[in-house]
Amino acid sequence: MSDPVLLTDWHPVAPARRLDEARPVAAKLLGTDIVLWRDAEGAAHAWQDRCPHRGTRLSIGRIEHGGLTCAYHGWRFAPDGRCMHVPSQPGQLPADSARPKSFRIEERYGLAWVCLGEPARGVLPFPEHDDPKLRKVLCGPYDVASSGPRIVENFLDMAHFAFVHAGVLGDPARTEVRDYRVDPWSDGAGGTGLMATQCFAWQPQTNSLAHGGSEVEYTYRVVRPLTAILTKVPDVQQGFHEAISLHVQPVEEESSRVWLVMAMTNFEQDEATLREFQDRVHDADLARERAQREHDETEERSAVLERGPLPVPLKLRNAPTPLMKSMGYAGGYRYPHNFEGNYVPEEYLPDELQGSRFYEPSDSGEEARIKERLEALRKKRDGQ
Ligand code: FES
Ligand SMILES: [Fe+2]
Repeated sequence: MSDPVLLTDWHPVAPARRLDEARPVAAKLLGTDIVLWRDAEGAAHAWQDRCPHRGTRLSIGRIEHGGLTCAYHGWRFAPDGRCMHVPSQPGQLPADSARPKSFRIEERYGLAWVCLGEPARGVLPFPEHDDPKLRKVLCGPYDVASSGPRIVENFLDMAHFAFVHAGVLGDPARTEVRDYRVDPWSDGAGGTGLMATQCFAWQPQTNSLAHGGSEVEYTYRVVRPLTAILTKVPDVQQGFHEAISLHVQPVEEESSRVWLVMAMTNFEQDEATLREFQDRVHDADLARERAQREHDETEERSAVLERGPLPVPLKLRNAPTPLMKSMGYAGGYRYPHNFEGNYVPEEYLPDELQGSRFYEPSDSGEEARIKERLEALRKKRDGQ
């Protein structure tokens, strides 16, 4: 959760329309609790969800008299974070430093985006959303007990269509994925990623409006470590355009919230129908994800125990993919680490994992502490 790329990136935390002047909204990002609120001027704010007085969650407070009032002793904080009222000492105010920690917030694509650090660049580009001819629909959020990279990986994976989404996005009789192109992608403003084009799939029902199957051409743009945008053009629906942007809100290391933003030419169906189609696709992915997680945990544990030099089970599934690494996404999700979440020094890895390490331990003492512990374990195992 301390990955510098993620800390300096923007992440969605709530639908923008949920931020109103009626009440604050709680959210969590990279392990940090946040309170979101909108002031009387219409400006949105994102603060650490912690009152500087006695630490109460500000998200259970009230928006009133031009500020956010804490539910415990009623201290009221102005939009700039300054305390403007202390009910028990009406003539006094605390030191100016008694402000909630604030974060940057922006509203784009119907979502509120927060950056916990100094933003490395703007909120990602999604030009289809800026096209006034396309209809925009926000789907989700979907809570998934998995890391962000794994969710992006699934979004890009066409080989699962015929199995997980049989009858909708895939056909069990047509499982082969043909070759497609992958090129570097750039937004011209320092943002880089990858783009896959000429990705073809036969789909029985490619969207909620489709009747009968069609050959569908996909493109995928991975524009941020935790954002991928696809477009799909079905052969048989002339003039139909659809772009779906998948944004992962990294809540904790192993827990994510997925937001989908669609921009499309489907103006015929109501929003509930459009959302229901995406919900169904997501439900199928979620069932598969659960099975994968349970399987991973058993497999990794037994495989490494059998072959490993030490009885330290390794947990590998949070490893960023090469694609994530190519985008500069380097740490936070440690690789490899044991089930207690500790970094495992390279010389203790099984042969096939040697050289696979690409991050540093989170602090200089960590490696020494873990080595000491592993040495003790080894001695115990060898009966020394
Ligand atoms: S804890 Fe917030 S006012 Fe006391
Ligand atoms: Fe899927």
